Amino acid sequence: MTNRSRIAPGDFGFEGNEPRRGCSDTFDEVLARRLHRRSVLKGGVLAPLFSMGTIANLKGQQDGSGLQFAPIQGSAADEIGVPEGYKWEALAAWGQPLTNNAPEFDPNDLDPAAQRQQVGYNCDFVAWFDYVHGSGIVGVNHEYTNPDLMFRNYSAERTTQREVDYEIAAHGVSFFLTVPYRRDDGPGYKHYLGSAFNRRIHGETPIAISGPAAGHPLLVTSSDPAGTQVRGTLNNCGGGITPWGTYLTAEENFDQYFGNGRGVADEMAKAANDRFGVREEGGRRQWWRFQQRFDLDYEPNEANKFGWVVEIDPYNPNWMPRKRTALGRFKHEAAATTLSADNRAVVYSGDDARFEYVYKFVSDGTYDSESRYANFDLLDSGTLYVAKFNDDGTGEWLPLTYENGSINATNGFTSQAEVLLFARQAADLLGATQMDRPEDIEVNPLTHKVYVALTNNTRRAAGDENAPNPRAPNPMGHIVEISERNADNGATRFEWEIFMLCGDPADEDDGAFFAGFDPQRVSRIANPDNLAFDKRGNMLIATDGQPRTLGINDGIFFVPTEGSERGYNRQIFSGVVGAECASVIMNSAQDLMMVSIQHPGEGGTRQQRVSSFGGATVNRPTVVAVTRSEQPHRIGS
Ligand code: FEO
Ligand code: CA
Ligand code: CA
Repeated sequence: MTNRSRIAPGDFGFEGNEPRRGCSDTFDEVLARRLHRRSVLKGGVLAPLFSMGTIANLKGQQDGSGLQFAPIQGSAADEIGVPEGYKWEALAAWGQPLTNNAPEFDPNDLDPAAQRQQVGYNCDFVAWFDYVHGSGIVGVNHEYTNPDLMFRNYSAERTTQREVDYEIAAHGVSFFLTVPYRRDDGPGYKHYLGSAFNRRIHGETPIAISGPAAGHPLLVTSSDPAGTQVRGTLNNCGGGITPWGTYLTAEENFDQYFGNGRGVADEMAKAANDRFGVREEGGRRQWWRFQQRFDLDYEPNEANKFGWVVEIDPYNPNWMPRKRTALGRFKHEAAATTLSADNRAVVYSGDDARFEYVYKFVSDGTYDSESRYANFDLLDSGTLYVAKFNDDGTGEWLPLTYENGSINATNGFTSQAEVLLFARQAADLLGATQMDRPEDIEVNPLTHKVYVALTNNTRRAAGDENAPNPRAPNPMGHIVEISERNADNGATRFEWEIFMLCGDPADEDDGAFFAGFDPQRVSRIANPDNLAFDKRGNMLIATDGQPRTLGINDGIFFVPTEGSERGYNRQIFSGVVGAECASVIMNSAQDLMMVSIQHPGEGGTRQQRVSSFGGATVNRPTVVAVTRSEQPHRIGS
């Protein structure tokens, strides 16, 4: 039986070490970090050098694992794996009705109108918003569609209006109330159909455009002469939760929806589209053939309405969602939100493409804890910064403001709106540091340190390494830790170090590094994509790419960031064939871990499936709920 005596009621079971507050590092620790930076600069041999120093320092502090689960082994099996003492169940699967009146999922009749009332496809960022009696509103966004897995005998050349309409309806965000319930084998959570919070936002939902770029001529389209509204949100990847309880969702690879980039006359917009990946002729998807707004020959500014962070109020379905232009336009992976020492809103965001940048927004106004709605304009004015990582372990946030440095008319910028519309180009001019695909960024709630997942960069050539991106090529990915000056997330200077160089510790040539922890004791991991923290400041890592790099399915890993177990990486969840684990998050009671199983069966088609996950007819991307089991061992099937 599970030993519940060691677990506080409502505890998921994580019992990592309490993070150090106001930490006074020992000389050895500081020295080890400096050694690490030096060894990183030199490349190669860094793992033994660095880990020896830190491990030596940690000896004698080993106080037992403090962990309530036995790590699982990485696996290539087509089944979800959780540790002994845990169980899993589907919380929200593609097509699941969101309300009592919504149609049941019918994979043989994929109806766009039905999809607008059901959970969308390819679940990604999951968020939990407390409601009453242990329940919560879950928000989950739907990044993109895999038509060859969705539709029988799909062919891009022969795609139909109905299929395209269905795909547009399958994008966006779902919200639904989630309630605790009692199962025979322990507590569980399920989706509750009868809530007024349950709803869909999709690729046609009206969304306002707010902030400094709203109304700019480059946002004017035939359906929106004011340049202040847009139909829908697309390619929502990561996201964030604001201190005032709204959901942020980040638009990432929006370029794929647009065709005929040659139709764009504005030079800055054209250059930006080219860098985003918009095709000159045709498009990666066929939507442009069915809706003129996706054809840039007809609607050259429509693409400028995507690539933003969208704010949604999960508690008020009547509040129109807003694209917050003050946070800049790029391939936003996520939008991790916290407060500065003086209570301004801070939003960190990575631009997930090779050699792109890390950004942070700091609001002008301050957070008002007394009046929730007083905070609803905070993300409309402030300063957007881009990160410069110096090789000596220091760094600075460079303000992306009009006329700062060479962000001026000589280089095509005539206003702050244009700086935000073309943030990448502005960041180039300030000498920001090109990173290895910045995916999720998260803030440790206890230490305020900031963690950047850099998922991989196979195109970094030998000789192009820099200290924060020390491997060339970098197929395995790594995590950088940023310590803002005075632990103030509003600071403009920081120190940084490598927290993890992912890989297989058994591969000695790989140089895997786990914050100095003994690599022989950790779970192998690659391609960190999304991060989360539990309330004790322990990190959860979701991966995307392990089948390719390690030959195992993607999974979820648990790693303390402070104390004697800093860097002790252990696998807690294994996904299914073809799927990435696109998101992990815990509820506020810490007795529920939610994981997004995105694109299960990718690599196959609806007819030729490579995974049986999700059902007999089609694979269904699914948010799964992991909870403790009161039976000796149960792995779901
Ligand atoms: Fe949608 Fe960068 O992952
Ligand atoms: Ca992601
Ligand atoms: Ca990803």
